[in-house]
Amino acid sequence: MRIVHTVADLRQHLRAFRHPAVVPTMGNLHAGHLALVRAAKPLGDLTVATIFVNRLQFGPKEDFDSYPRTLQADCAQLEAAGCDLLFAPSEAELYPQPQAFTVRPDPALADMLEGQYRPGFFQGVCTVVLKLLACTQARSALFGKKDYQQLLIIRHMVRQFAMPVDIIGHDTHREADGLAMSSRNGYLSAEQRAQAALLWRALHACAQSVRAGQTGFIELENQAMQTLRSAGWTPDYVAIRRQSDVQAPQPGNPLVVLGAARLGSTRLIDNLEI
Ligand code: PAF
Repeated sequence: MRIVHTVADLRQHLRAFRHPAVVPTMGNLHAGHLALVRAAKPLGDLTVATIFVNRLQFGPKEDFDSYPRTLQADCAQLEAAGCDLLFAPSEAELYPQPQAFTVRPDPALADMLEGQYRPGFFQGVCTVVLKLLACTQARSALFGKKDYQQLLIIRHMVRQFAMPVDIIGHDTHREADGLAMSSRNGYLSAEQRAQAALLWRALHACAQSVRAGQTGFIELENQAMQTLRSAGWTPDYVAIRRQSDVQAPQPGNPLVVLGAARLGSTRLIDNLEI
């Protein structure tokens, strides 16, 4: 696997390829990221991963400084998964000047759910993803469905800017007890880890009730939030939405149940398509 840290070196290396398939990440990789890399392999003539902890998508009270940076271990894992090229720019390389041009996503998609609790998050994500897709000349780009709203917003961005890239969503990788894999799971104490799958179980119960024909969505959402609260969590939201744009559903829409909750100081998110 070739590792490049500058846009110039990346461009030089990309010259020989026509269809880079790209997996953008913030590093601290887990099995979910590696599944994305393996899924990228047959989609292009070069499998590219990016590692960049993007300051623009972290709020002032969030974990930018403490976000785990594990480049050496990440490289070994990427190589084993068959990645051909890693682009791991420094902050000075990707943002040589303050990033004055930014991508402001449609508020109808970005100002609720995650956007309500993490103001500016999707603007930071869209800005860096646009830049990473441009740098890597991605023709396919893969993202995990755990960040459901992120995936949706990136799809809309790429469509609205007519970018020549297919956005591919990949199923969430889960631990044996159902917990969605996430770099932030590493923040959990052993005791918290033991009950971390409750978020998934609460969403699963909600999804099962909808599948069984229940239509009182607000009540189901409240029940799931109550389950979490009773176990000492602080839920931000549990929401049953339509899959296409995470808006309030109309009868017949394919649905997804999304949730975010804090366990101690760790904020976990998850979702299930119904
Ligand atoms: O999902 C992530 O890891 C990040 O939000 C992304 C897409 C790599 C942008 O920094």
